[in-house]
Amino acid sequence: MISRNPCIANIKAGYLFPEIARRRREFTASHPETSRPECRIISLGVGNTTEPILPHIDAGLVDGARQLATPEGYSGYQDEGLPALREKISEVFYRKGFGPDEIFISDGAKCDIGRLQLLFGSKIPVAVQDPSYPVYVDGSVLIGAAGAWEGTGYRGISYLPCNAENGYFPDLSALPRDGICYFCSPNNPTGATADREQLDALVKAAGEKGALIIFDAAYMGYIRDPALPKSIFEIAGARECAIEVNSFSKPAGFTGVRLGWTVVPKELKYSGGESVNADWARVSGTIFNGASNIAQAGALAALDGEGVREMRELCDFYLGNAALIRGALEKRGIPCVGGDNSPYIWARFPGRDSWDVFNQILEKCYVVTTPGSGFGPAGESFIRFSSFGHRADVEEACERLSRL
Ligand code: MLT
Repeated sequence: MISRNPCIANIKAGYLFPEIARRRREFTASHPETSRPECRIISLGVGNTTEPILPHIDAGLVDGARQLATPEGYSGYQDEGLPALREKISEVFYRKGFGPDEIFISDGAKCDIGRLQLLFGSKIPVAVQDPSYPVYVDGSVLIGAAGAWEGTGYRGISYLPCNAENGYFPDLSALPRDGICYFCSPNNPTGATADREQLDALVKAAGEKGALIIFDAAYMGYIRDPALPKSIFEIAGARECAIEVNSFSKPAGFTGVRLGWTVVPKELKYSGGESVNADWARVSGTIFNGASNIAQAGALAALDGEGVREMRELCDFYLGNAALIRGALEKRGIPCVGGDNSPYIWARFPGRDSWDVFNQILEKCYVVTTPGSGFGPAGESFIRFSSFGHRADVEEACERLSRL
């Protein structure tokens, strides 16, 4: 019989969000009152967008689909992505700082995070902010770069705690040498956004330690404070030590449409001097056939003047939700971060077990959240609230949170 990849056996539990969905189903089945409107379950759990795609961007998608039915407009494989879209991304987000061959269109940030690990193999040290988006850790386990689960984390992963005491920015002296460091800002799950000085320190530390930063900027569209950097490439020296993954999911409502991009600068080299950019073109050209051309037509519409305005409007809507949720929690005396330049609110329940608090909120308020411990050991005693929801649901959830 075929043997199982031992790396899969190392994965401790189911992926966090399906596990939450399973618990929600179990709770609904055993609580018949959830069929009554006042007890219906409201999700502030997974960060899944809920609002319709706005008209101009939608028209781009529709037009993209129509083009496919015409001889002039038909297109097949797009490999690394439509050149016009790659140029537009460079113009809108990077002040034309990258050539189209440094920007790779993907089917989403999460998918590229998984594929990127192929570049570095299983022998490199991996560091993550703790707590962090589970894909960085689970993906590292699957590729064999992390060992078995031990106590509260995986052997071989350096967890860099981000907590109230350090302002949710890690102690960079713990960054392992010659490894990769996943860094997400605005952060999922804490909602904290690194400032320029902090990102300067990150790039400097990566340079000193020979580390490569995989910078996840999927929530950059939520930054409203003009002093905060949106991309790692606003920081001098980042081109030599960073890759940035990004996404249309959260700013344009493309969680189901699927579209993202990854920036791999030509300056980025391995220890042997080889080009990371050339390898990424080779790897993605081999195991990825390019993103949907319809989605790319939608993205082109999202990046013209009207599309950019619509993306801002959509992010503002969710930020409005975030302000309501944070306000409701703070009214109960629950300390929070995030929700201002990020769609996530990170709420602290000192001394409590995250899953216990998750259960309590579900039982008392019929609201689904995400337990902080699911994002790493330093997430224990925290709950993440997502602001992705219809306004009426968020308002009702906020009212119910007064029962806490
Ligand atoms: C989350 O809730 O963290 C989201 O599912 C993240 C994502 O995969 O986009």
